[in-house]
Amino acid sequence: MITDVVVGLQYGDEGKGKVTHHLCKKGHYSHVLRFNGGCNAGHTIIHNGKKFVTHHIPAGVFFGIKSIISNGCVVNIAQFKKELDYLNSNGVKTKGLIFIAKNAHIITDEHLELDLKDKKIGSTKRGNGPAYSDKYARTGLRAEDVPELKEYLIDLYREFYHDHKNPRILCEGAQAFGLDIDWGDYPFVTSSHCTTASIFLNAIEPSSLRKVYGVCKAYETYVGMKRFQPTNPVFKKLQLYGNEYGSTTGRARQCNWLNLDFLKKSIKMNYVTHLVINKMDVLNDLGVWSLYEGDNTMYFPSDKEFKKHITENCDNGLASIQFSYHPDKI
Ligand code: IMP
Ligand code: MG
Repeated sequence: MITDVVVGLQYGDEGKGKVTHHLCKKGHYSHVLRFNGGCNAGHTIIHNGKKFVTHHIPAGVFFGIKSIISNGCVVNIAQFKKELDYLNSNGVKTKGLIFIAKNAHIITDEHLELDLKDKKIGSTKRGNGPAYSDKYARTGLRAEDVPELKEYLIDLYREFYHDHKNPRILCEGAQAFGLDIDWGDYPFVTSSHCTTASIFLNAIEPSSLRKVYGVCKAYETYVGMKRFQPTNPVFKKLQLYGNEYGSTTGRARQCNWLNLDFLKKSIKMNYVTHLVINKMDVLNDLGVWSLYEGDNTMYFPSDKEFKKHITENCDNGLASIQFSYHPDKI
């Protein structure tokens, strides 16, 4: 087994979906696995020049790779089916490719109703918090308990340790370190584990871990109830230039500059081996490159430790730089 991971280093919306999509093209993966979250996520992907937004289904499906919604996830059945229809009617084949771990939990109508009442966190109202509450209260419903999901069910142990000799798995994270239930700014977090560590709760063999692609933006955004965006009008401009509006809820994302201390912590805690920085072009458009001068500098891109190689990756609507380095060196 070989496992690579795409993980969010900030507060979601860093462009994980696009990075996953890019890696699927070249990585020769046998499986792509979503390991946390539900349809609170919104992954925007440009495939063959066409824009897609997915919530549940991993990006492997665009390349005919087996795509699994794992046991760390919670699933809204109606949304799942809607997404299958959406992909099929837009020319993306899903038949025989999409699976749900039999021990994944279900988001019910009651969960949705409860989540609508949230006024404190600013949740996406997709029923995530209540679904995970039921999971841990041991009162939840699992995918294997739902007859209409039978054709999609998968036993991950059987799949990875018996049926498939040498799986090459790409784990696609949702949300991010700053929203992690344990490491985020509680209670302004999501209800799942968003870090690299949590992939191992999804039938991934720890020794199989190869590359961890940590994804961030050249600035920060956050959606939710806490105050995040400073009052300086430049951030309104940043929001506009970066088109920072939620792909799931359409809400405006609060913006701020990149917090390097936070990024460093996130890189450490996720054991990031490859750092992908997206939306460099937005800061460039804004003309704020001088942000990276002075003591608290990002060492763009001349720093030797960071810069083993830099690749431009603009083919799917991203302007990003990828650094690869050893996590112990940061
Ligand atoms: P929940 O996950 O819907 O309960 O929302 C909890 C917090 O996480 C809220 O601040 C949401 O805006 C945020 N959140 C959840 N999923 C995403 C995402 O995919 N991108 C960005 N923010 C998210
Ligand atoms: Mg998103």
